[in-house]
Amino acid sequence: MTVDTESRVEAGLEGARARTLGLLAPIADAALVDQVSPLMSPLVWDLAHIGHYEELWLLRNVVGAAPTNELFDDVYDAFKHPRRDRPSLPILGPPEARAFVAGVRKRVLDALEMIDLDGDDPLLRHGFVYGMVVQHEHQHDETMLATIQLMKDFAHPDAAGWHPAPVERDAGGTNEGMVAVPGGSSVIGTDEHAWVYDNERPRHEVDVAPFRIDSTPVTNRQYRAFVEDGGYDDARLWSAAGWDWHQDAGVEAPLFWRREGGSDWSRRRYCRREELPLDEPVQHICWHEADAFATWRSARLPTEAEWETAAARDGEPGAPQQMVGNVWEWTATDFAGYPGFVSFPYREYSEVFFGPEYKVLRGGSWASDASVRRATFRNWDYPIRRQIFAGFRCAADA
Ligand SMILES: [Fe+2]
Repeated sequence: MTVDTESRVEAGLEGARARTLGLLAPIADAALVDQVSPLMSPLVWDLAHIGHYEELWLLRNVVGAAPTNELFDDVYDAFKHPRRDRPSLPILGPPEARAFVAGVRKRVLDALEMIDLDGDDPLLRHGFVYGMVVQHEHQHDETMLATIQLMKDFAHPDAAGWHPAPVERDAGGTNEGMVAVPGGSSVIGTDEHAWVYDNERPRHEVDVAPFRIDSTPVTNRQYRAFVEDGGYDDARLWSAAGWDWHQDAGVEAPLFWRREGGSDWSRRRYCRREELPLDEPVQHICWHEADAFATWRSARLPTEAEWETAAARDGEPGAPQQMVGNVWEWTATDFAGYPGFVSFPYREYSEVFFGPEYKVLRGGSWASDASVRRATFRNWDYPIRRQIFAGFRCAADA
């Protein structure tokens, strides 16, 4: 194999593991097995699931190794067991989970020497399956950060740095901060194979009408104006499904925001309550809230194609700022395969989620690793989900 690919694989695996263990090290074993929300797994489930996924792809599929325990195929299958049910499964305890992931990793690194990453096998070529496993671990690290944020009483020592970057320009509750993007034929997706997921392929052209898009994500300052203007009480701003959700959920502001008496808004960030940082992008809002805000501002959410067209202009004068790596951004688009989509290497990564019930998010967040931060990366979630690090920006027709 080429040394470059091998060292990239090794560095990727080591970086992901250092991050995982660093996140979990300060958390007591009792808290690792706790479930803080029915939306999330106990952290120890995520940890052993990371090891199981790695064993499945990098040992069983690649070198034909036997499973450590066949029961894990059931217990750690994310599709068989929704998160709310995972605490009742016979999952490994923290010491056993740590030993399991360490043992798998040692065997993976031992086997790596023998693997041909330059051959014709599409799973191995350029280290694809290793990249898939590295990204999978980082994506679970982001999920675990969302779980840790939900742990009200736990002060993680690293939490001070866990927040979005402030934005420099803020046009308040208007469309003044938008930049114009010319229309025409736009290239979406990629044909790159290594370290890119099936749902990002193939690269294809779409026609995009000229449009305008916010130069930065919507900030807490802007979002507060929507809240204080009665945005949550005005049914005209909401879709029918959004209004139903908001009535059922009884929400009046983003998750973790609070206002007591006549005081100003605060937000809870990793067990500490703090003054709302007005220049940061709003996060912990669901798609319905983003959509209602956009209507309030006489704008709309960008389509996925518009978002990627704008992101491709990164570095050009007048291009929007901070499109990748600050907060996930909700788009108007339902999750679907691109024309000519071929599932690889398994349908359950993305194909089984295609359909109108999921909305696409773009850009990656401050919690996303560099291996996941790219303009073609597609995330998806239900339009009612708020625990993820998602915000949005608005768009409008030219
Ligand atoms: Fe997973």
